[in-house]
Amino acid sequence: MQALILAGGKGTRLRPLTVYTPKPIVPICNRPFLLYQIDTLRRAGIKDITLSLSYQPQKIEQQLGDGSDFGVNLKYTVEPQPMGTAGAYKYAEDLIREPTVVFNGDILTDIDLKAVIREHTKRKATATIVLTPVENPSAYGLVETKKDGRVARFLEKPTADEITTNNINAGTYILEPKVLDYIPAGENHSFEYGLFPNLLERGEEFYAHIPQRTYWIDIGTPERYLQAHQDLLADRVGRIHIKERRGQFDAATIAELDELSMIGDDCVIKPGAQIINSVLGPGCYIEEKARVENSIVWAHTRVGAGAQVSGAIIGRGCHIGRAATVNAGTLLGDKTSLTDYSQTGGGAL
Ligand code: GDD
Ligand code: MG
Repeated sequence: MQALILAGGKGTRLRPLTVYTPKPIVPICNRPFLLYQIDTLRRAGIKDITLSLSYQPQKIEQQLGDGSDFGVNLKYTVEPQPMGTAGAYKYAEDLIREPTVVFNGDILTDIDLKAVIREHTKRKATATIVLTPVENPSAYGLVETKKDGRVARFLEKPTADEITTNNINAGTYILEPKVLDYIPAGENHSFEYGLFPNLLERGEEFYAHIPQRTYWIDIGTPERYLQAHQDLLADRVGRIHIKERRGQFDAATIAELDELSMIGDDCVIKPGAQIINSVLGPGCYIEEKARVENSIVWAHTRVGAGAQVSGAIIGRGCHIGRAATVNAGTLLGDKTSLTDYSQTGGGAL
C-alpha cells in the first residue's frame, strides 16, 4: 500500500492566510498541516507517500523535504497547471504501482486507516471511499449507499432539494491501480464529477467505509480552520493529542496563560497579558495587558499593550496596535498592521 496526497488546490476559501502559505502547510497548532496526514499514514504502516502539488510547490517541498525527518519517504509531482483531483492522480501514474490511499490534502481526521484497508481487501473492492456524517452536505460530495455497503450514488455539492443523506465523501479513498485506466491522460479530470460516477456506471466494486467514533473536519474555510484548533486544544480529537503546549519562551510571572493555550518557542509575554484558549506561533510578542482569547496567531506577530483579540485568526508578522480591538470573525493576512486603537467588526459602529 502506498499513498498520494492531493495538495495542489489554491486554498481560495482560506485567503488571505493562503496568499503566502499554501493550504497543505498552514500551521495547525504550530505544525504544518500535512504532518498530521503523514502521521496517520505512518501509523498505518504506509511510508511511501507522494505529494501531488500545483500551487506554491517549492514552499511545501522546502518544509517537508524527503520525509526522513518524519519517518516516511516523500516524493513529489508538480502539475504544470491544476489537473483536477483525478487528473492529479493520473499525473502521478508513473509512481503508482500498488493499491493507493488517496487523501484530500485538507482533511484533519484520526481515522483508523488499517481498518479501512482491511475492509477494502476483504471485499476485493476496486475502490473504497470513506464517508462521514455532516449536518449540511451541500458543501461536500454526498454519497448514498446500499445495504451491503456499496456506493449507490455520488453527487458532488448537492443543492438543498437533492440532499437524501448526511453521509458525505470524507476525502479518503483506497484505489486499485486499474482505475488509472478509466482516467483520461493529460486532461483535467475530477474524482467527484468524473471517476466516481464512472465507476458506478461500469458496475465496478465501489464500496463505502463508514468509520465509527472518528473525528473529521475539512480545514479549508476560516471557520473550520479555527474549529480544528479549538477541538485540538480541548483534546476532542480522539487519537490525536497535542504533545507540547509550551515551547521555550519568556513570560512575565504576572501574565495569565491558561492551560489550554499553546505557546510557540521564543514568544515574549509581558506582565498582565492574558492568553486564553489560543495558539501563539513562535516568536510572538504580546505586550502589557493585551488579551488574546479563542484566537490563532501565526509566528512573529506583535500584539500591542492593552489590545483585545478575540475569536480571530491573525497571520504571520502582523502588528496589532496598542488598545486595538480585534473582534470575532476577523481574519488578517500576513504583515497586516493595525493602527493603535483600531477596531475590527462587531461593536464600534
Ligand atoms: N494536485 C492537485 N491538483 N490537487 C488538487 C486539485 C488539483 O487540480 N484540485 C484540488 N486539489 C486538492 C486540494 O488541495 C484539496 O486538498 C483536495 O484536492 C480537495 O479539494 P477542495 O477544493 O478542498 O475540495 P472540496 O473541499 O470543495 O471538496 C472535496 O472534499 C470534500 C471533503 O472535504 C470533495 O472531494 C468532496 O466530495 C468532499 O466531500
Ligand atoms: Mg476541501
